[in-house]
Formats: sequence, C-alpha cells, structure tokens
Amino acid sequence: DWTMAAFKTEAIARIRAQVGKGKVICGLSGGVDSSVAAVLIHEAIGDQLTCVYVDTGLMRKGESEQVVSLFKNHYNIPLIHVDASDLFLGALEGVSDPETKRKTIGKLFIDVFDEESSKIEGAEFLAQGTLYPDVIESVSAKGGPSAVIKSHHNVGGLPDYMKLKLVEPLRELFKDEVRVLGQELGLHADFVGRHPFPGPGLAIRIPGEITREKVQVLQDADAIYLEEIRKAGLYDKIWQAFAVLLPVKTVGVMGDARTYENVLALRAVTSTDGMTADFFEFPWDVLGKTATRIINEVRGVNRVVYDVTSKPPGTIEWE
Ligand code: XMP
Repeated sequence: DWTMAAFKTEAIARIRAQVGKGKVICGLSGGVDSSVAAVLIHEAIGDQLTCVYVDTGLMRKGESEQVVSLFKNHYNIPLIHVDASDLFLGALEGVSDPETKRKTIGKLFIDVFDEESSKIEGAEFLAQGTLYPDVIESVSAKGGPSAVIKSHHNVGGLPDYMKLKLVEPLRELFKDEVRVLGQELGLHADFVGRHPFPGPGLAIRIPGEITREKVQVLQDADAIYLEEIRKAGLYDKIWQAFAVLLPVKTVGVMGDARTYENVLALRAVTSTDGMTADFFEFPWDVLGKTATRIINEVRGVNRVVYDVTSKPPGTIEWE
C-alpha cells in the first residue's frame, strides 16, 4: 500500500526526531494497536525501546504466550514480561461493579507498569498505541457528563508521577489503517486482523464477581467460539466476537443426570470503529455447533445464548 508505506517512512522520521537518543518504554497490551506501535518504534530506534507486558491473568486463552513469543523470539525486541495475575485477581476479589473493576484494573496496571518501568534507567518516553477514535472519545468525554460512558484506561491514564513524554505514532489512524501499517511492518495478517480486545480484558466479560475458575471457564469457551468462527471463514467479517459468562444458573440434562450450571452468552458484531455496531447474522449451523461443543467440552456451562442487540442502544461489551 503506497500511502501506508509513505506514512510509515514519515512516522519513523517523526519518532526519531522526537526521541533522539532517548529511551522509550512501550506498554504492550497484547492487542494490535500497541503491537504495531512497538514494532514501528523498534524499526525507528531499535533497542532504545523496551516493551513491558503486564499479564493481568485476564487475557484470552494462550494470548500472553503468543505475544511474548512474537516479541521476544520473532522480533527480538527487549521485553519485560510480568506475570501479575495473582495480584489482579486478588484485587478484584469481591468486586462486581463494572466501573470499579475498570478502576481497580487501571490503577493496578499503572502501579505494576510504573514499578517495572522504573527499572529501566533513564527512560524519558512512554509509547502508546492510541488511535484517532480514542483521541476523539476521550476529548468528548471531557465535554460533558453524557459522554462519560466508560472510563477507557488507555487514554490519559498517566499519573503525574510518571514524568514521561508520550510517543503516540498512531494518533491519526483508524483501526483499519493500523492493520495495513502492521502488515507493512511485516506483522502476519492473522495477527493484525485480530479483533480488538478491551484493556480490562475478561474482567468485563464476567458480570458479577470474578474468580480464577470463572476466568478459566470463559477462556475455554471463548477459544472454542473463535475456533469455530475461524473454521467457518467468518472471522474477518466480524469486528469483535467473544463470550460472556453469566452469573446465572439454569437446569439442563446430561445423559440421564440433571445439571445446574452457568449460562454463556455469545456476542459478535460488525462495526467500523466500535462507536456503533450491528449484531452479526450468523448462519444457524455455526452457532449450533459452537453451542454443542462448548456444552460438551467446557465444564460449568450447560446453556448457550446469542446476543442480538445492536449499538446503540446496547454497548458492545456487557459491562
Ligand atoms: P462498548 O462496550 O463501549 O465498546 O460499546 C466499544 C469498544 O471499546 C472497547 N472497550 C474498551 N476498551 N478499555 C478498553 O481498552 C475499556 O474499558 C473498554 N470498554 C470497552 C470494546 O471492546 C469495544 O471495542
């Protein structure tokens, strides 16, 4: 893509001009945006960049391993990998309010990140994968109470005591452009094509209290759902697809025994920027097969439902 190749060259020049010989820290979230930002910055300034990946224990199944191996082994980008899952799950114990979950995770994330980045001596800059829609949403959120719908912790979430200057090379881009840029930088199409994933992760896909067991049930069910979507060739037609583990138990039968387990909701939407969205019209057989597999293979779920709410009036996430 000619335009994106030009953007890349310009962005690299801008990063070099801004950063000079300074050291940059980049928080990797596991998502496309921060990954593309990191690879772009690494191409611009090499090992002046150190990435920090905080594993909250709230990622999709296998995703942390994937990110760590991509950056460490494939790109050889200096990476600090912190397993903070005990810390996060501990702090979330007994928390069920969605905004409290976000604040708890956001605050802890900054604490852990700050502690790790303070070990990188002489760092002056902090890189973030902020996109254009993030910029507008947080500006409008400051404009009035109606816009304060959810506190997105990846914009403006910097505490004052972290006196780092921001490097945000993706600020002018939309999601689809970031994907093109990612491929321009050599990231695999499957990787850059991954659905967006929220900062608070699976915490906001488990309404009510979060436990390690619930996270595991959700990870397993979610992995089956995505596998079936990919098998059906539908992954790229969908903006986001994910499962939500409901704190509701219903009765079922398994063999000749009665079961009493949780309901799992499946969500899939189409969208261009996440601001509005339509529910995805699945072929029934894909949903049916997914439901059967989840109920047979994941202990703790005995009923699967599909969410047919668009945004507005719904939001994409359930919390
Ligand atoms: P909603 O649920 O508000 O989601 O329709 C719109 C888009 O934003 C993502 N999302 C978040 N991303 N931190 C994030 O980084 C959050 O707290 C958060 N809440 C929602 C959501 O996945 C969708 O892409």
